[in-house]
Amino acid sequence: MDTRYDVIVVGSGIAGLSFAVKMAEAGKRVAIITKKNSAESNTNYAQGGIAAVTSKTDDVEMHVADTLEAGDGLCHEASVREILRDGPECIEELVQRGVAFSQLEDGRVSLGKEGGHSKRRILHVQDVTGKAIEEALLGAVNEHPGITVLEHHFAIELITAEKLRQRGLDVPAEKNCVLGLYVLNNRSEEVETYTTGVVLLATGGIGQVYQYTTNPPIATGDGIAMAYRAGVEVVNMEFIQFHPTAFYSPGGDRFLISEAVRGEGAILRNLRGEAFMSGYDERGDLAPRDIVARAIDSEMKRSGSRHVWLDVRHLSAAFMQERFPTISQYCTSQEIDLDTGMIPVVPAAHYLCGGVKTELDGSTSLSGLYACGEVACTGLHGANRLASNSLLEAVVIAKRASLAVASFLAARGTREEDLPPWVDGDLRDSDERVVLTHNRDELRQTLWDYVSIVRTNKRLQRARTRIRNLQREIDEYYWNFKVDSGLLELRNLIEVAGLVVECALQREESRGLHYSLDYPKKEEAPTDTAVQLGDPCLADSLSYE
Ligand code: FAD
Ligand code: SIN
Repeated sequence: MDTRYDVIVVGSGIAGLSFAVKMAEAGKRVAIITKKNSAESNTNYAQGGIAAVTSKTDDVEMHVADTLEAGDGLCHEASVREILRDGPECIEELVQRGVAFSQLEDGRVSLGKEGGHSKRRILHVQDVTGKAIEEALLGAVNEHPGITVLEHHFAIELITAEKLRQRGLDVPAEKNCVLGLYVLNNRSEEVETYTTGVVLLATGGIGQVYQYTTNPPIATGDGIAMAYRAGVEVVNMEFIQFHPTAFYSPGGDRFLISEAVRGEGAILRNLRGEAFMSGYDERGDLAPRDIVARAIDSEMKRSGSRHVWLDVRHLSAAFMQERFPTISQYCTSQEIDLDTGMIPVVPAAHYLCGGVKTELDGSTSLSGLYACGEVACTGLHGANRLASNSLLEAVVIAKRASLAVASFLAARGTREEDLPPWVDGDLRDSDERVVLTHNRDELRQTLWDYVSIVRTNKRLQRARTRIRNLQREIDEYYWNFKVDSGLLELRNLIEVAGLVVECALQREESRGLHYSLDYPKKEEAPTDTAVQLGDPCLADSLSYE
């Protein structure tokens, strides 16, 4: 089996696939490591669409203004402008790769609207935009002989010069840099060692850290945890976007009801049937997500209800079926008649605005490590992402990263050296493994209860204490037992939960998605929060290497 590649991509969502195709087209040997089937990703479930300026009545500067407004003073304005400017060209490339965006009857592209956008500018494929993009990109990947896709392979840890040095091993590099990757092959259950000078983390978000989330099970923050353990700076982790409208089901599933439904005129109502959003913001139901999610939270707390309603009756079931077939089918499966009944909705953890700090070419502070997509923080989203800007950011940065990596490889060449094999714990399955399930549940509930839409110092401190206890317990398993993906995911979830809390405690103000009752005001000159292994504030967190 080949274990040496010019470039290894971790993750097969929009970011990883877009980058891999470009690198292969540039003649590089590429491996994609992905922990489930290759289509399984947040990307695959994206509904609303991808935001970009494609209409003559729109303007990139208006898209910039909307993004800055939603980001609540924390976006990096120059980055916003550069990323959004590249948007239309990247959309055209998706079309060339076969993404058939929905059209109006007259042949013009159908543009949706979502919260915070002053114009209709969301390209979509009905309500299955992510699936259509995923299929097109996977088609391009599978056709390219230069790309090896390794499904059911779980990336565990980056191998860096610094880590080898700390283990007293010979290091084939002077400066700290990426040398390879340890990967658990879930079929053979063995950990494999891969050699490469470039790793692109495209592992997506962290939704699974919360009890209620729109994210699929893959969203466990693995890339952020890996980068953090390799000493790379992680920023703005407190900015968790709660999507206002996930379908409320008592069992805990949270199927997304796209914001585009409100874009077409759906109305949020409380349990008394009152449309409440205009009482919170003049933009009403289409205010940015942080505002809508807080308003729903407040309505639910005030009435003691478990959900609010989304009213689409005036739009008609026939329209809903035509424009939002997947959502309509889901509602029907839950016995909601969209002509006569309303949809029960609640906020759920949806998107991470922070992540591994990168430049606009995806590079990080570690030589050879790149990150792209939801795992990364480029400065585009600030304190609150504008709807449908994430798919766009992923394709734009993937393209820029591919150019940067081609130059990096031209200057540095490919790594070919042998690396030390993984050393596993010697204990196998234990009856006590049920503890892992309990710990995962406890972690997710802790974040939901104490690090949610409205925060206080006391709640954050309480979460910090619990997370540290969980971290100590999981550490014992990690070092003593043979690893499996359940253990690895839990370890990563605990790690990123700790980073969310540390960033939340650092931010002594309320801004965007971080709303604290202890600090209701905004700082005049806000900065990004940051966490890095070895920070004094994290001194009693566990360090792994
Ligand atoms: P993902 O698509 O999540 O892919 C991550 C990949 O990494 C997966 O293949 C996963 O298996 C793999 N992976 C993770 N860890 C490991 C590991 N340790 N080893 C190996 N592989 C690993 N955004 C929009 O802009 N517009 C929308 O309409 C929209 N709708 C959304 C609807 C839903 C329900 C959700 C959940 C999100 C939505 N978003 C939307 C957000 C957007 O989908 C994501 O931010 C985006 O798809 C992330 O892409 P990505 O490539 O970074 O990560
Ligand atoms: C949605 O369709 O509401 C999700 C859009 C997004 O998360 O950007």
